[in-house]
Amino acid sequence: MEYSCQTYELKCNECGRHFGNRPLSGCPECLAPLEIHYDLEAIRREGRFTRQTIAAGPHDIWRYAALLPIPEGFEPDLPVGFTPLVRAKQLGRRIGATNLYIKNDSVCFPTLSFKDRVVSVALANARKFGFTTVGCSSTGNLANSVAAQAARLGLQATILVPADLEPAKILNTLIYGARLIRIDGNYDHVNRLCTLIADEYSYGFVNVNLRPYYAEGSKTQGYEIAEQLGWRLPDNVVCPMAGGSLIRKLKKAFAELVELGLVEAKPVKFFGAQAMGCSPIARSVREGSDDIIPQRPNTIARSLAIGNPADGPAASRMIQASGGWAEDVSDIELVAGIQELAETEGIFTETAGGVTTAVAARLYQQGRIGRDQTTVVCITGNGLKTTDAIADRYVLNRAVRPRLADFADYLAELDGALEPALVAAD
Ligand SMILES: Cc1ncc(COP(=O)(O)O)c(C=O)c1O
Ligand SMILES: [Zn+2]
Repeated sequence: MEYSCQTYELKCNECGRHFGNRPLSGCPECLAPLEIHYDLEAIRREGRFTRQTIAAGPHDIWRYAALLPIPEGFEPDLPVGFTPLVRAKQLGRRIGATNLYIKNDSVCFPTLSFKDRVVSVALANARKFGFTTVGCSSTGNLANSVAAQAARLGLQATILVPADLEPAKILNTLIYGARLIRIDGNYDHVNRLCTLIADEYSYGFVNVNLRPYYAEGSKTQGYEIAEQLGWRLPDNVVCPMAGGSLIRKLKKAFAELVELGLVEAKPVKFFGAQAMGCSPIARSVREGSDDIIPQRPNTIARSLAIGNPADGPAASRMIQASGGWAEDVSDIELVAGIQELAETEGIFTETAGGVTTAVAARLYQQGRIGRDQTTVVCITGNGLKTTDAIADRYVLNRAVRPRLADFADYLAELDGALEPALVAAD
């Protein structure tokens, strides 16, 4: 269950030991998380990652394959990623921002969240390592993506989730034929159990024993942001945090682009967004420490409900070192954030995106983000999966008879005034 590769391998950030390529997430010596280390010098020398090679690639994450841990011989055929980066003028007007962008992963292919990026890279490795069953512990979106992509690759999927997950996220997993096991506990219980199962049953769990490979997939969101800004880095990024992996990998992506000369170096501030009912990383940033005090999650933002985040300490350190900040918002504020993004930009995001939008608004209000700075807000999941969060905000109107006069009466009822043109036409 290992393979060798010239350009990347597992490395411990603490002790610097290398471990080749195998399903392993922590250093056996010092227990620190392992990361993928690339021979950037060779990649630069051989001109394998340049603006030209990227432009010649497909319109999906595979255009960045030279800086992803993709085993030789793997032929990607799913057009994952390359989601829109849209200028958010209307939202900007509301929150006092003139140079605001939304990175819209709510329409990521194939399962409508940024998790499609990480899963495609993890499963490429799962196949290479010879796993026939893959899976994950999940707060919802990861479950959907593992189930869908495993189906396509002909792998069995065994997926564990907290029992109280949103019904849409459960159905969006079952539909692909995955074995879904609801666990009576929160995400942190589920994740601990998965660590034991992965060893005992030889399963390839994307965010457990395949985690270093999985996490690299998030970098593609950072590459896309820089490329879509015309090979420039933004001044600020606002990003939701659960395990704390995505925000760290955005930073890594920008650093690699600078190191390989694709963008000019500049300081980028990273801002993390969490829900008040589960904000261990935001709290750590606010206290200026890198200690993470585990929490018992209590929020409707279930996709962000990780009380003991694996990458929490590193994410907290990185945010502080960048000069950024982290905030948390209440469930009421996050619902308002979902509505505000939909009403201003026509983007329907899930609870995590409501958190991110509400936190971004607050950061402008606090003056932590300057009005004219180039700022990217990462919207990572789709609102169709968490409709229960907003259902009680809307009342269905009484059914109106299919006649113009009834329509006119109804409008009058709504507006408190008659519509003369409509009345005359009847
Ligand atoms: C929609 C959404 N956004 C953001 C995140 C946070 O990602 P990370 O665990 O990399 O911090 C998740 C994690 O599940 C998610 O589902
Ligand atoms: Zn080590």
